[in-house]
Amino acid sequence: MSTNDSRPSSQPPFWDERYAANEHLFGTAPNAFVASQAHRIPKDSDVLELAAGEGRTLAWLAKERGATCTAMDFSQTALATAEQWAREYDLPVETVQADVRSWTPDRQWDAVIVTFLQLLPDERPDLYHTIRRCLRPGGLVIGEWFRPDHLTGNYDRLGPSTADRMVPVDEVRAAFADDEILRCESADVTLEEGPLLRGEAAVVRLVARRGSRAIVHNEAQS
Ligand SMILES: C[S@@+](CC[C@H](N)C(=O)[O-])C[C@H]1O[C@@H](n2cnc3c(N)ncnc32)[C@H](O)[C@@H]1O
Repeated sequence: MSTNDSRPSSQPPFWDERYAANEHLFGTAPNAFVASQAHRIPKDSDVLELAAGEGRTLAWLAKERGATCTAMDFSQTALATAEQWAREYDLPVETVQADVRSWTPDRQWDAVIVTFLQLLPDERPDLYHTIRRCLRPGGLVIGEWFRPDHLTGNYDRLGPSTADRMVPVDEVRAAFADDEILRCESADVTLEEGPLLRGEAAVVRLVARRGSRAIVHNEAQS
């Protein structure tokens, strides 16, 4: 796995400082796309969010869908807020501090969420393998990323500053080709996700159900 990226924005201190400097960087409401697809997640499921930040989406899934949640992120500052919300509202949300580029999950979940994670192209194949590996057969992934034409089209200046942290729709479709893809689309949307993600945006949205085919690459690695 590629973990040698030395850009400050790829390291926990960059994100710790951002979370410390802003109250609720991405708001307190859930990610709008995940919320719109949450009816597909059976009640009382266990749900993992990769790069969950403060866990806004998981807190909502726990309250509204009775989900038992795992919030994974490499920012301890963000996870501290997730833990505070879990205590305050008595929510079943546990946290895992880890770098998704080197994390090896030791269990599986009914659903995996990932929203606006900004990995580089050579890091993303492992992300897709990790998502599939975290899912039970039949489990659901719901994802949203900026796509590269966000930087060249008529959109607001928000999201990653470089196109290599944005995700082409064909890449996502190919990564989940062995699964049942329920939605995989480019969308032009108005984001209202806290002070940093507010405005017109070009995104890719994914909903897929993991197939029963073995994940040979990952199983060979483990
Ligand atoms: C744009 S924020 C989105 C947070 C959350 N998904 C949301 O929508 O509220 C990106 C998050 O990814 C986390 N992150 C970035 N790179 C990571 C990595 N390699 N491993 C784990 N977390 C990472 C950051 O700490 C940050 O919380």
